[in-house]
Amino acid sequence: MRISESFIPTMKEIPSEAQIPSHQLMLRAGMIRKLASGVYTFLPLGYRVLKNVEQVIREEMNAAGAQELLLPTLHPRELWEETGRWGLYGDEMLKVTDRNKREFGLGPTHEEVITDLVRREVRSYRQLPVILYQFQTKFRDEIRPRFGVMRGREFIMKDCYSFDRDEKGLEINYQKMVQAYKNIFTRCGFKFKVVQADSGNIGGSLSHEFMVLADTGEEALYYCEACDHCQKAKEEDDNSQAGREKLSCPKCNKEMTYTRVIEVGHTFNLGTKYSAAMKATFLDEKGEAQPFIMGCYGIGVSRIVAASIEQSHDANGIIWPLSIAPFKVMLLPLDVSNEQVKVTAEKLHQDLQAQGVTVLLDDRDERAGVKFKDADLLGIPIKVIISTRNMAENKIEIKLRSKNDAIKVDLPETLSKIMAMVKA
Ligand SMILES: Nc1ncnc2c1ncn2[C@@H]1O[C@H](COP(=O)(O)OP(=O)(O)O)[C@@H](O)[C@H]1O
Ligand SMILES: [Mg+2]
Ligand SMILES: [Zn+2]
Repeated sequence: MRISESFIPTMKEIPSEAQIPSHQLMLRAGMIRKLASGVYTFLPLGYRVLKNVEQVIREEMNAAGAQELLLPTLHPRELWEETGRWGLYGDEMLKVTDRNKREFGLGPTHEEVITDLVRREVRSYRQLPVILYQFQTKFRDEIRPRFGVMRGREFIMKDCYSFDRDEKGLEINYQKMVQAYKNIFTRCGFKFKVVQADSGNIGGSLSHEFMVLADTGEEALYYCEACDHCQKAKEEDDNSQAGREKLSCPKCNKEMTYTRVIEVGHTFNLGTKYSAAMKATFLDEKGEAQPFIMGCYGIGVSRIVAASIEQSHDANGIIWPLSIAPFKVMLLPLDVSNEQVKVTAEKLHQDLQAQGVTVLLDDRDERAGVKFKDADLLGIPIKVIISTRNMAENKIEIKLRSKNDAIKVDLPETLSKIMAMVKA
């Protein structure tokens, strides 16, 4: 992709509406734009990252035995009345009425819809377990939408639901999902903690939250550096350093570390909460009807994009990990009026694309300073600098966005060098 032909509307000024680095940088790097409070467009650069995050999640979900589907956004009121949640969910559910005066909710979560599907289609214990997931736009009329896509009223979630014949089956699938989540967040490059938590609105007995460490996180927890025990901090600890408790680890008695965190994933043991309320049953070996034993597993896909920036940026811009970067390589020909510089950059652009490597070529006739500034703002991990000076020695320079030092590479070795870095 050439910058001259791309739609990446960058901004020099820090937008005043944005309070935290990820929101500022997503606006400045031309990744998102606001349409209404808590409602955002993902522009091409932001969308590339979103799709990469999706792909990491998809690979791990499939590997764990889950199957992807797509459920509707419009949920009939009657279905939500079966569990009592039409009333319970309250004002957080956005609602619409059709031409026949039928009421629908815009799905904020999909337990009712998936349970309805499975109670119609799955009859026997022989068809279990089944694990289904989707990527979808969720709607929640949040009281305080803020921080850009971090807390939106419309956002992308991966939600997954497991159906088992007994508690033992659920336990196995629950652990599989927890492991898949750990793989996903590790691949996304996160420093994160897993904490046992309240299950809130979704209900059930046991739940785990996956928390990315970040100073600007809306929540807080304490963790033990010795044994990795963690627990959520009480609300009153959140703001004042002075009033904050000193807590020692219940397992090994060491003093625990306080950190602010962003919730990126949440797993729930639902048991029979939904299946019992919705009379969703299967026939066991004895031919007796039993309620499905359910689990549900959510990940904030759009929130991950913001959380990644929150955890990895500097004063100049974003620092993407290779796994989710919008492009892996950025080519910076510093003087496009020099024929050799231009031809070298074009050739590398072509060769990398032929190898299936995502690459952005800054083909603009701009000063080096402007190009470096934009490259740092966009945060593409591998920068390849092609300058008149280095051309004279038949060399180019490779710089990682995450490091300061550059390495000089002989021109003929450039492609293999970059390929090795991309695969690392
Ligand atoms: N308003 C929102 N904007 C962006 N992502 C959200 C929002 N609400 C929830 N998420 C993401 O979806 C995941 C699953 O949601 P869930 O745990 O049901 O929501 P909550 O924790 O807000 O009750 C959360 O871990 C979070 O990453
Ligand atoms: Mg949650
Ligand atoms: Zn400990």
